Amino acid sequence: MHSIDDYRASFIAFMAQKVAIKDPISLYEPISYILNLGGKRLRPVLTLMSAEIFGSHYSKALDAALAIEIFHNFSLVHDDIMDAAPLRRGKLTVHEKWDINTGILSGDAMLIKAYQLLENYEGETFRQLVTSFSKTAVQVCEGQQYDMDFEKRDDVTLPEYLKMIQYKTAVLVAAALKMGGIIAGASIESQNSIYEYGKNLGIAFQLQDDYLDAFGNPQNFGKRVGGDIIANKKTYLYLKAIELASPDQKRALLDLYSIQPKDPTDKIKSIKEIFLSSGAAIRIQDEMAVFTQMAFDNLGHLAISNDKKELLRNFGEGLMQRIV
Ligand code: IPE
Ligand code: IPE
Ligand code: MG
Ligand code: MG
Ligand code: MG
Repeated sequence: MHSIDDYRASFIAFMAQKVAIKDPISLYEPISYILNLGGKRLRPVLTLMSAEIFGSHYSKALDAALAIEIFHNFSLVHDDIMDAAPLRRGKLTVHEKWDINTGILSGDAMLIKAYQLLENYEGETFRQLVTSFSKTAVQVCEGQQYDMDFEKRDDVTLPEYLKMIQYKTAVLVAAALKMGGIIAGASIESQNSIYEYGKNLGIAFQLQDDYLDAFGNPQNFGKRVGGDIIANKKTYLYLKAIELASPDQKRALLDLYSIQPKDPTDKIKSIKEIFLSSGAAIRIQDEMAVFTQMAFDNLGHLAISNDKKELLRNFGEGLMQRIV
């Protein structure tokens, strides 16, 4: 097995070879821009790691890993348009640096490029990869639509929220691992167990993303802190605060979520205070720990050596410590 840093370095070198700027420049430059802004490269690392865990050399999984990372970045370009987000990874978002049409079309081309990379596989492997990828991609769209619909609804429940983040975020983390398993010819049972591990880890990951969106440090978070509050997103923090708040706090929170001030500084500050004083900020961390533990429990069903399980456990623990 290789280290996570090895997988990341190999992936970045592979991507540098495969992603070039060509004509029309205005289509390809934004693609190269977003892909080279950095990012944690979690999903491609998971694909490479999973391929090796199930007995393949990771190099066989590089095309699939790149497909997943390009799909992820495509979803971010379109997500930033939908969320009216100005910053991504500490730099301007594509639609801010260029314009919305550029973001739409460069995003479309990235989605297609992701599928083209899967053409490098053959036969049954190709078929299974495309099946898993397409199912995941459509679920991401469904999750993103729920996320947008929830902005306008005031009766969103926690189970609905959990389904939404499972679809918009967790299934891609899960599929990244499963696709590594498909490439290595892992059994269906193994593919399913690693998928469940990724799904639960992905839910914990999105809970953490929601937490950082409110409480992250603007110096290193890389996105606009308070962006979810500005957009009236029905995050776990919001839904839990509504559930736990005193009648006064609840009224204040509902009022604040109904206004769109030009300068959102005070709105963000007041809402964060309610997230803290209601106990929602603690409860989201408990919930993250619950889903991380469920992910680790899924490892128990995998017929792989203990040191490989340890690697997946360490990955999960590292992820929960993140500040970016
Ligand atoms: C951001 O994903 C979008 C979410 C699903 C929360 P990441 O936090 O993995 O983004 P990068 O690729 O590391 O920037
Ligand atoms: C993004 O969720 C999920 C997808 C891009 C599919 P968010 O909207 O919370 O992601 P960030 O916070 O902008 O990275
Ligand atoms: Mg967003
Ligand atoms: Mg979003
Ligand atoms: Mg977010």
